[in-house]
Amino acid sequence: MNRRAHTTPTIIANWKMYLRTEGVVTRISALRKFLSTVERKAHIILCPSFPALAEAHRTIGKSLIRLGAQDLFWDDAGPYTGEVSALQLRDCGVHDVIIGHSERRQLLGETDTMVAKKVICATAHGLSPILCVGETAEQRRLGKHNQVVADQLITALRGLPPPGKGKFITVAYEPIWAIGTGKPADPVIAMHMLDHIFQVLLEVYDHPVVERQMRILYGGSTDRHNVTEYVGPGLFSGALVGGASLEVPGFVAMIKNVIQQYHR
Ligand code: PGA
Repeated sequence: MNRRAHTTPTIIANWKMYLRTEGVVTRISALRKFLSTVERKAHIILCPSFPALAEAHRTIGKSLIRLGAQDLFWDDAGPYTGEVSALQLRDCGVHDVIIGHSERRQLLGETDTMVAKKVICATAHGLSPILCVGETAEQRRLGKHNQVVADQLITALRGLPPPGKGKFITVAYEPIWAIGTGKPADPVIAMHMLDHIFQVLLEVYDHPVVERQMRILYGGSTDRHNVTEYVGPGLFSGALVGGASLEVPGFVAMIKNVIQQYHR
């Protein structure tokens, strides 16, 4: 296989429903301080809950840190109680959006078809999608993991034109059995899935697009100690980080460890 490593890694904090606005602002202020010297060496995307987005945007200010959301709805306006549109996210300064996280698929019944509509809508409005895919422990036990992930990818991306110039589509492989457990996937298993995802993406897009404009990240119990087993030249292009992104010193150490991998 021929997979060219991206030279700038992507580290995404998924703050889930853990933080209120004050907690978001405090963390962003601290991250700005600690990351000011390295922020050109990594794409850092922070994804707080919807109510904190506008304040998060103000706090990010002129820093290169990017603001992401954790979900969106697929229509621009209408009778959709509780939902949030791409336009509303853009108003809050959002650039990136997590779509199809397994917690939404499992707890809220989000299907591959819904995920596909969200990916198309996000892209149409200039938001960069972070598409989450991954199998359950049971699906892996039954040997269905490759098929499950292929189905998730193909359903979500089939109707989506290749990203425009300078734009990216991010895919995060997050084995459900590794999320929030403190037990990440064995790096060898994760690398097999990385190769598989790359091959599946080639069924949808041309090789140069997959190589240059798609980033494949790993997520699931990464931390400062293990992240370099997953992210680096020839490995995944970054990490989607839950628990370990909540404490600033650990998250900063994680980002710096990843950057070192690229500048050895
Ligand atoms: P985790 O979460 O790092 O806490 O396992 C990752 C995620 O859910 O995106």
